[in-house]
Amino acid sequence: MDLFEYQARDLFAKHGVPVLAGEVIDTPEAAREATERLGGKSVVKAQVKVGGRGKAGGVKLAGTPDEAVARATDILGMDIKGHTVHKVMIAETAPEILEEYYVSYLLDRTNRTFLAMASVAGGMDIEQVAEETPEKLAKVPVNANEGVTIEKAREIVALAQFPAEVAEKVAEVLVTLWKTFIAEDALLVEVNPLAKVASGDVIALDGKVSLDENAEFRQPGHEEFVDHAAANPLEAAAKAKNLNYVKLDGEVGIIGNGAGLVMSTLDVVAYAGENHGGVKPANFLDIGGGASAAVMANGLEIILGDPDVKSVFVNVFGGITACDEVANGIVQALALLEEKGEAVTKPLVVRLDGNNAELGRKILSDANHPLVQRVDTMDGAADKAAELAAAK
Ligand SMILES: Nc1ncnc2c1ncn2[C@@H]1O[C@H](COP(=O)(O)OP(=O)(O)O)[C@@H](O)[C@H]1O
Ligand SMILES: [Mg+2]
Repeated sequence: MDLFEYQARDLFAKHGVPVLAGEVIDTPEAAREATERLGGKSVVKAQVKVGGRGKAGGVKLAGTPDEAVARATDILGMDIKGHTVHKVMIAETAPEILEEYYVSYLLDRTNRTFLAMASVAGGMDIEQVAEETPEKLAKVPVNANEGVTIEKAREIVALAQFPAEVAEKVAEVLVTLWKTFIAEDALLVEVNPLAKVASGDVIALDGKVSLDENAEFRQPGHEEFVDHAAANPLEAAAKAKNLNYVKLDGEVGIIGNGAGLVMSTLDVVAYAGENHGGVKPANFLDIGGGASAAVMANGLEIILGDPDVKSVFVNVFGGITACDEVANGIVQALALLEEKGEAVTKPLVVRLDGNNAELGRKILSDANHPLVQRVDTMDGAADKAAELAAAK
């Protein structure tokens, strides 16, 4: 989960990374009071989860509260690389900036380690620096067990060739930034720029943080960072019901049990779809290993709620979940949706195999729902689902 700059700023402050005051607002008029609280001048900063805001005109200095209102008016509603600005941060203005540095930690999956990156050539052109003069960007692996002690931080600072007068201050920032990275279960923490100001201090003027959603269970405080407004409503509904749902861009909805079966179902449908005008999976939902009838009903409701879905392929291999339970779940789910007035109009292709398959198939045959077709092989069912999606 990527955070907004103001949220990153708050986490930095919590762990001792030096930041400036800032508050987030969503109306131009609120910029006036916020700027007054900062002593009459501020920096108005677009809050969008994309870099390059400065170059896009999303970061503006305001010398008076009136000017802050004017800049907030300009920036709110602006489009930055496809992201509409709904909030701005009114930040304290940094004292005279002498230099801009770059520091970050990230999970380096390729090398199976954490990585520290640091450069004295930070600021708005860091991507260009990384590409054209990679020697100016120090990359230092960080051992997960050892972490970043002050000694390790000094090593990073030395490799990046920070000037002597800021070396110790940058090293201290690296230690607090590492605390942020670990304590918050982040996958990325980035400060760009880390500014050297006239007093000789270094301050994090911009922050980017990405949190590891797999650590959610031990990070109850992170719930507040979830941008519910931006979340796909079906993904949110699936999450609330503890289902793994992923939106794709094709036409066949897919429900399966177990990650392995679901993944191969995606392949089989994509392959079958080639014979039907390039039909592809629209989404997939894993009802898990021990899925009950109720879970099946929840899953179907979500899959059928996706307007891109033209047909649904339910592919279940009964193991812990017996096929009769799944079949009952399908029958109940269809009845439930009809009761709710959400008339089901999309065809379902069901393939049941494994534990209690015969019983499950019988339940479906007996129910004789006009939209449900049973196909007992995986390839055959995928082909039928693709054919039905193409016909719609
Ligand atoms: N609080 C601030 N005070 C003074 N200058 C700032 C402040 N915040 C950002 N800047 C300047 O604006 C530039 C761009 O801002 P930044 O927050 O890094 O946005 P982005 O990286 O999205 O362009 C920074 O490199 C810095 O020079
Ligand atoms: Mg920046």
